[in-house]
Amino acid sequence: QGLRRAAKVQAGQKVLVIGAGGGVGTFAVQLAKAFGADVTGVCSTKKTDLVRSIGADDVIDYTREDFADRPRRYDLILDIAGGRSLSHLRRALDPRGTLVIVGSERGGRWAQGVDRALRAAMLSPFVSQKLRMLVSTENEEDLQLLGKLIEGGKITPVVDRTFSLSEVPEAIEYLRGGHACGKVVITE
Ligand SMILES: NC(=O)c1ccc[n+]([C@@H]2O[C@H](COP(=O)([O-])OP(=O)(O)OC[C@H]3O[C@@H](n4cnc5c(N)ncnc54)[C@H](OP(=O)(O)O)[C@@H]3O)[C@@H](O)[C@H]2O)c1
Repeated sequence: QGLRRAAKVQAGQKVLVIGAGGGVGTFAVQLAKAFGADVTGVCSTKKTDLVRSIGADDVIDYTREDFADRPRRYDLILDIAGGRSLSHLRRALDPRGTLVIVGSERGGRWAQGVDRALRAAMLSPFVSQKLRMLVSTENEEDLQLLGKLIEGGKITPVVDRTFSLSEVPEAIEYLRGGHACGKVVITE
């Protein structure tokens, strides 16, 4: 939804996925590739091989390098993690590009948690870049598409750890750590 609805990604576009090694990011990288984009993933050192293995054309290790310091400007930035400032994100965005804020909201002076996304929505009409926030919804059309892409081998869910139902508190604690490597699965 972030790629197709909020941003209408096109083949050949340069897409930056921040938080590429997490539950949402590992899908976003593969989906952007399936839609024909040129994808750069941002993650920590231990996930660089994984992010490359799921199809990213380029990987930036955020512990060593700031993506905004590169001369490259992206047509679409999916901001899933890290909570960087709007000005920081806009620096890496093409003047006509689209920023989609997906996650990592934490605090803020005015609207606990969504300050940054609200400021993005308010600023967007006055700048050439499109600044959007994603509120995902479940719908059959998207699930059908995901099913087809999985069956066709275009995307493969990345599973980090599997917990039993009785271990749900540990699973949530693990997720809250903020460094999952793909999805965390609960089995019966
Ligand atoms: N808007 C919506 O509708 C919607 C829908 C679903 C989820 N979300 C939100 O999306 C966010 C991510 O969800 P998730 O399930 O993918 O979480 P997750 O599985 O915990 O993944 C988060 C990833 O962020 C990475 N990360 C942490 N600090 C980072 C930084 N400074 N720069 C770049 N990457 C960093 C972590 O990897 P490293 O170990 O590499 O740091 C981790 O892999 C959450 O805030 C969630 O609430 C929003």
